This record gives sequence, C-alpha cells and structure tokens, in this order.
Amino acid sequence: MKNTTASLQKQKQQQEKISMLTAYDYTTARLVDKAGINAILVGDSLGMVMLGYENTLAVTMEDMIHHSKAVARGAKNALVVTDLPFLSYHTSIEEAVLNAGRLLKEGDAQAVKLEGGVEFAEVIQAITRASIPVMGHVGLTPQSVHSFGGFKIQGKTEAAARKVVQDALAVEAAGAFAIVLEGVPEKLGQLITELLTIPTIGIGAGRYTDGQVLVYQDMLAMYDGFQPKFVKQYAAIGEDMVAAFANYHQEVGSQAFPADEHVFAIQSEVMDTLRQEFGEAK
Ligand code: KIV
Repeated sequence: MKNTTASLQKQKQQQEKISMLTAYDYTTARLVDKAGINAILVGDSLGMVMLGYENTLAVTMEDMIHHSKAVARGAKNALVVTDLPFLSYHTSIEEAVLNAGRLLKEGDAQAVKLEGGVEFAEVIQAITRASIPVMGHVGLTPQSVHSFGGFKIQGKTEAAARKVVQDALAVEAAGAFAIVLEGVPEKLGQLITELLTIPTIGIGAGRYTDGQVLVYQDMLAMYDGFQPKFVKQYAAIGEDMVAAFANYHQEVGSQAFPADEHVFAIQSEVMDTLRQEFGEAK
C-alpha cells in the first residue's frame, strides 16, 4: 500500500517506527521500495554521493528534479520526499513556493524537505498553504556547513539545545507533516520527539525518534569518504562491487568472458555464404 504523509503520522500515533532511506535513481528506488521501506528521501546529499561534490551547496533544482523523477518511477509504495536545494527557498517566499511546486509537478515528489527552523517558519507556512507537504530538517543542517564551521553535532550546550527545540516547535507550528532531526544528542532527540505531535525522523539523533533515515551508500559501505559514528553498515557492497569489477577486468583480459553461454549462434550456411561474398578475415 502506498505510504502517505498521513500514514507516516498514523505510524507515530500507533508507536510504529518509520523507516526512510535515500535513493537517487530508478533502480535503487525499486530495490528500496521492494524492501518495504516507508519513505524515500531524494536528498541533496546526491551532490556528495552521486556527483562527487565536497558538500551539498552546488546542487541545483534541475539536479533534484532529474533524480526525483527517476526515483518516483521506481517507488510504488514508499512516500517520495525530495529536498529543496541550497538557495532555492532562501531568497523569497514566492520563489520557495514555486520551487517546491516544481519538485511535485516536474519531479513527481509527494512532499518536499527543507532545512531550517524559526527563520524558515514563514516559508514552510507558505509552501504548505499551497498544498505542498513539507518535511522540516533541524539540528545539523548540511546546507549550513560553512556557518557551522564543518559538519558538527548541534545542540550540545543549553543555549544550542534550546535553539534546536525552538526550531523544531516552529517547524511543527508552521505546518510541516514531519521533521528530520540530524546530528543532535540522543536525549535532545527524545525530548523533541515527546514534544511534537508530528513524526521525528532521526539521523544521528539517537534511538528515541519516531523513525530513522540513512544515506544508502553509507549503510551499504559504498562510499569510502568520511563515515559518521551514527552510520551502521548493513553490507559491504562497495567491496563486493570492486571485487566483481576486478574479476570482470581479469576475465576480459584472459578471454574467460564471454563464454559459450553468453554468445548468440548463427546458421553455418549463412556464414559460409558471407565468407564467400566478403572473403576470409585477414
Ligand atoms: O540530503 C540528505 O540525504 C539528507 C539526509 C542526511 C537527512 O538530508
């Protein structure tokens, strides 16, 4: 059955944990969907794990629409949430609503996600007023990497923790249907989850959020960049891929591939005629 913003909210009410993973293409979306994951995030993390940028800042609306459309074609049951990239919702409310709308109209997303709390409450309000469901994102918001001075855990001091709580409350009050809590201490994640009626989806926010989200390349150990402490590796797909590629390289060289079972036959009379017509190969 298709997951919706309402079904995710029902999961919170029924104390059933929500699973979310990123996906950026059709094939992966199909596999994630087949596994029964509740929601797929077409995250702007695609800038790092798919496009090789150092952070998410260079990702464009066109990048997000392109990947979102592919994911939506593969996600039969999972709710598809697509990130608004850096500067697509910061300059004016009008531009924010138009860009959020493009992710639904052109990217086939069911909801959008944007980073920021109190300062973005008006933007969230305007987007939800346009009937576009918004997932908030507070705590370690990667688009603010330079103002944080790096990808740093947020909310560790009293003042910083209060700010994260205020941000989460503002996001809920503005009409978001759910919120990502990223890179905050576990007990802060728990407090916010208790305070909010909308579901909290944690990434590096401990065990007590209403759901969890991970970048799929991290949990499959495909991406050999920095591995945050909060990632659990469920498989070593990166190593398996390198081994398979190396095996293929070796078999192409040794002519073990292609073998009999990989080739197509043709009647020998046809080949005899062709050889007579075109001559023997040199
Ligand atoms: O872009 C992304 O993948 C995200 C997750 C890290 C939550 O925002």
